[in-house]
Amino acid sequence: MPAASTAAPAQPASASTRGHAAPACETAAWDSRDRSVMSVRTRTEADLNACVQLAVVVHRVDGYPPYLPGDLRSFVASPGVIEAWVAERNGEIVGHVALHGRSSDAVMALAAGVTGRPPDRIGVVARLFVAPAAREDGVGGLLLGTAASAAVELGLWPILDVAAQFDAAISLYEKCGWRCAGRVTVHFGDATSLDEVVYVAPDPGPEG
Ligand SMILES: CC(C)(COP(=O)(O)OP(=O)(O)OC[C@H]1O[C@@H](n2cnc3c(N)ncnc32)[C@H](O)[C@@H]1OP(=O)(O)O)[C@@H](O)C(=O)NCCC(=O)NCCS
Repeated sequence: MPAASTAAPAQPASASTRGHAAPACETAAWDSRDRSVMSVRTRTEADLNACVQLAVVVHRVDGYPPYLPGDLRSFVASPGVIEAWVAERNGEIVGHVALHGRSSDAVMALAAGVTGRPPDRIGVVARLFVAPAAREDGVGGLLLGTAASAAVELGLWPILDVAAQFDAAISLYEKCGWRCAGRVTVHFGDATSLDEVVYVAPDPGPEG
């Protein structure tokens, strides 16, 4: 858990960016893909080992997650999860995403300020990762859209925080219409710190 954090908000949401119900770009990212061999479904207990194995590969290749106080199993099976999903291609799990109830205090405070929502009406998209061999084929966009749509259905405004060095993820979020809310520096008890960028999904409207 972070010991302390600092936040630098971006500009508040402008009126012109409000009123868009679509939380992400799963349809646009997927229209040209072969749907017959790919599916996204709710993660079950039986999927956990495969998800952890995938996380091991992603951690080695990408350095994600950049801060790992415990092990990868605890990271994937976070107690803060509302729901999690896996992407399967030909029966193999190639991607993962989760919806959490909250992130660090600094992230939640920044998101609350930008969205105008109390933290309990915000949902945090987290634990998004795709197998290196399955990337740049729309899987990440599909998973992002799945978690964001689920958040909206629960009456939550989707947000997320991403380490500032993860350029591919940041490109994905911006392509999907998410807006940068600002930056947060999270300081951990072991004297390390992490620079993060906070993104908010397009305004889901009063019901979302
Ligand atoms: C970020 C990640 C999930 C993206 O998954 P993906 O399946 O490759 O994403 P998609 O194929 O849906 O990409 C959609 C868009 O994202 C952007 N994008 C994805 N990978 C990119 C890259 N390597 N460089 C630049 N832009 C990229 C592009 O805009 C892309 O659209 P395009 O294909 O029309 O150019 C994947 O790279 C990953 O697992 N990274 C390591 C873990 C990580 O950083 N997770 C985020 C934690 S917050």
